[in-house]
Amino acid sequence: MAGVAVHSTAVLSLCLLLAPQGIAGWSVLVLGGTGFRGHYTTERLVRDGHNVTVISRGAKYWDVFDRLAPYVTHWRCNRTLAREHGGGVLRKSSGLVNCTDLSKSDVFFDAVVDFSTRTLDEMKQAIEVFRDRVALYVFISSHAVYDVAKNRTHSEPVLFESDAERPGREISPLDRWNLKGRSARGDNELECEEELLKQYNAGGFPYVTLRLGNVFGPKENSIRYWLLHLWVKACVALTLPLHVDTSLVNTRISLTYTPDIAEAVLRSISRGLNETCCSEKVHGEAFNLACEEMPTQRELYNYIGEPAGMPYVETIEVSRNHSVVLYPDNLGGPISVTKAQEVLRWSPTGLNKALRSVARFYERIMLEGKKHKGQIEFMYRKMKAMLGEDGPRFVEWTRAQYAERRKTELYDELDDEDEDEIVLARSDSRRPGKGGWAPEIF
Ligand SMILES: *[C@@H]1O[C@H](CO)[C@@H](O)[C@H](O)[C@H]1NC(C)=O
Ligand SMILES: *[C@@H]1O[C@H](CO)[C@@H](O)[C@H](O)[C@H]1NC(C)=O
Ligand SMILES: *[C@@H]1O[C@H](CO)[C@@H](O)[C@H](O)[C@H]1NC(C)=O
Ligand SMILES: *[C@@H]1O[C@H](CO)[C@@H](O)[C@H](O)[C@H]1NC(C)=O
Ligand SMILES: *[C@@H]1O[C@H](CO)[C@@H](O)[C@H](O)[C@H]1NC(C)=O
Ligand SMILES: *[C@@H]1O[C@H](CO)[C@@H](O)[C@H](O)[C@H]1NC(C)=O
Repeated sequence: MAGVAVHSTAVLSLCLLLAPQGIAGWSVLVLGGTGFRGHYTTERLVRDGHNVTVISRGAKYWDVFDRLAPYVTHWRCNRTLAREHGGGVLRKSSGLVNCTDLSKSDVFFDAVVDFSTRTLDEMKQAIEVFRDRVALYVFISSHAVYDVAKNRTHSEPVLFESDAERPGREISPLDRWNLKGRSARGDNELECEEELLKQYNAGGFPYVTLRLGNVFGPKENSIRYWLLHLWVKACVALTLPLHVDTSLVNTRISLTYTPDIAEAVLRSISRGLNETCCSEKVHGEAFNLACEEMPTQRELYNYIGEPAGMPYVETIEVSRNHSVVLYPDNLGGPISVTKAQEVLRWSPTGLNKALRSVARFYERIMLEGKKHKGQIEFMYRKMKAMLGEDGPRFVEWTRAQYAERRKTELYDELDDEDEDEIVLARSDSRRPGKGGWAPEIF
């Protein structure tokens, strides 16, 4: 009963945060705005009083879609391009062009935030569809683009935005080709970035690229952080040390916290629209986004272990092919975030604080056990599949642990407001509800 009452208060408070009609907010379209990487961005835009439209398939994982649906215009569309029998891509008859809500509306968007374009063909289609319909395009890319770039020409231990450069087609076609093969994802993302630049140079819409590192946060649709969190807790009891990939023992890892992405998107838009300042400093530019700390795998496990109450995390070095290593998901090493800090005046959450928030989120989910039962069972299934013969005893141990703790530790029912407190509490977050950004001194 109490849970229900609290829940409705949370909904109400979000309602009150919505700017009344007429206050000048932005009209923003978020592609893929109900997914793991994008949902905080959608939520922040709504809280800040903007008119948010989301194009997604409306898949219901976690409670993300249900939480956002009342506050956004949702256009249910599958923007993935279909292929004909011969393998050719159907750019004229599938994907965004088949999104009738989009084609029948004549809304002009101040910004399109794109979390969902995966391939060059999808980007080409998006560019056609949004030509003359958008003032600023924000493309969410990743550090994988550096995996297909030529060798860096500096000796810094971090990757700068300018390092995402391919060898020339004429000078070293073979190098170029070989590099493309190092990361299909990186190759696709870089092709998308290149296409955006090409249309911009030809007089098209301005854009900003945000390159993410290894993404972590609550409500993953993979189970990267979640699995590590539980593994760290189980490793000693089950003598199941965490794997360290022998080929990556000393590689440093850049991690990007999902609420930090939201902050960077908002700052990019306010600058890109020249509301805060300096559109010329962000148009056509890329910005790396990640926490400043860059742990190795072992250090990351210790970071995760600390809030989980594990002072010591056992590890074992395992060859690449046989290891279960969830971070890093790139080859090129960590990224520098200086440019985003200087130009966007963006500052990432401290890694320790961010990991604590995520740890607390998953702990509450597991202890409470009911609200996200489907998601928990999904995680157990994936965990079993990933850990092979150790899977069943790992799952059994974990279930028993939380069942036992549930008897003694009293946890209130989870409600939306608690989740916000856990995750969104940021010292620098603005008071929401104003609609648009107040000008700030740059
Ligand atoms: C918000 O955007 C939707 C379309 O995305 C549009 O139909 C609606 O009129 C907009 N609302 C306001 C208040 O501008
Ligand atoms: C979306 O469209 C693609 C291409 O047609 C298809 O492969 C995929 O199954 C669709 N997804 C959903 C959820 O409908
Ligand atoms: C897209 O729309 C066209 C025309 O309405 C239709 O013929 C086609 O089957 C649709 N394609 C997909 C993949 O739904
Ligand atoms: C780039 O560096 C790798 C080793 O780090 C080397 O094997 C390769 O030849 C270099 N490529 C070029 C084009 O210099
Ligand atoms: C951005 O705004 C500043 C100050 O209002 C103005 O001086 C500048 O010309 C604007 N830049 C563009 C590209 O509109
Ligand atoms: C790892 O797997 C790849 C292909 O899956 C294979 O080419 C390579 O030899 C394997 N390496 C080791 C050390 O087993």
